[in-house]
Amino acid sequence: MMNNIAINNPFIVGKYLSDKYFCDRTEETEFLRKQLQNGRDVALISPRRIGKSGLIQHFFNQQDIKENYHVFFIDIYATTSLAEFVYTLGKEIYAQLKPQSAVWKEKFFQVISSFRVGFKLDTMTGAPTFDLGLGDIQAPQTTLDEIFAYIEEADKPCIIAIDEFQQIGEYAENNVEALLRTKIQKCHKAQFIFSGSKRHVMSNMFNSPSKPFYQSAISMGLEPIPLSTYSAFTTSLFEERGKSINSEVIESVWNHYDGYTWFVQMMMNELFALTATNATCGMDMISEARHNVVMAQENSYKDLLSNLPPKQKIVLQAIAKEGIAHNITSAKFIKKYNLNSASSVQAAVKLLLKNDLLTQTDNGYRIYDFFFSEWLATVY
Ligand SMILES: Nc1ncnc2c1ncn2[C@@H]1O[C@H](COP(=O)(O)OP(=O)(O)O)[C@@H](O)[C@H]1O
Ligand SMILES: [Mg+2]
Repeated sequence: MMNNIAINNPFIVGKYLSDKYFCDRTEETEFLRKQLQNGRDVALISPRRIGKSGLIQHFFNQQDIKENYHVFFIDIYATTSLAEFVYTLGKEIYAQLKPQSAVWKEKFFQVISSFRVGFKLDTMTGAPTFDLGLGDIQAPQTTLDEIFAYIEEADKPCIIAIDEFQQIGEYAENNVEALLRTKIQKCHKAQFIFSGSKRHVMSNMFNSPSKPFYQSAISMGLEPIPLSTYSAFTTSLFEERGKSINSEVIESVWNHYDGYTWFVQMMMNELFALTATNATCGMDMISEARHNVVMAQENSYKDLLSNLPPKQKIVLQAIAKEGIAHNITSAKFIKKYNLNSASSVQAAVKLLLKNDLLTQTDNGYRIYDFFFSEWLATVY
């Protein structure tokens, strides 16, 4: 079905469409298949924007997986409590259920009695609809029990992917990890993919003996797609549409963004748009593409800055101008950017790291979002 829609630009960003627009990840998909078929849960860990969510969606889109399992995908990045977790999971289960058999759907409201309030009949058509509000989750633990009870009765095994899983550590309630672990342990019908972008939080959850999820899942890291593989993918997408691209362009973009999939795809999307039919994309187009991509996000960067305390803003811009800042507490760095003191820089960096604006690499600190960094250093 999807393939019949005319896709103007084959460099898709922000959603999963189909195999055709998805580059590689063959081994990773196979690894997931193997672990899950062997009854093991997987903890998928990598920095943001490398392609974790995309990989999970790609895996769920495999024919054998679709046929043999019920698959559920929830992103809990924005959730802050068990009630929201339960709400998100319940909604996803119902959404996947819609095209399924009426029996399973009926059972949904039988077993998950907390959700009955969300069951309504459309006033126009009389068809059943599901309209649940966050406020309808009065007793989240009970609802969670019911959801798991329901999963146990599924007619096929289930795979539940919980994206940005580290977020449960931030919940208002402090027993969620233990609670979930117990539920998951007792659940025979479902297997889990826990994915997360905060390496130390995730690794602490799964690798420290005192934590409920200790050794409960196989850890899997995700690396950037290798340049040669991405290059072949890009070249063929250009050529299929009567355009071409010099391989040095692909190499240069890939290197500039360390192969981080989201940034590279954003650039390729723009470069593809800038290239006329029958023309070739050359090195001279990179700077225009970069400018367009960065400026398209300007409003969100301004919003972000307007919410940032001045002390953090100054440090952030200094780091943007450096690109990678090696020695942030050195007298040289502090003097160069007129910063206050080593301790105030340290305090700001700590907060910027916590809020995902900065990231620490082997060579020093850099701004997580390459495009934001470029904008801060050159436009702002
Ligand atoms: N293998 C891939 N081929 C093409 N595009 C991809 C691939 N993996 C991810 N993407 C694109 O890159 C972007 C970032 O990937 P995503 O899966 O959201 O990263 P993460 O979950 O690690 O933050 C997505 O918008 C997606 O469209
Ligand atoms: Mg993601």
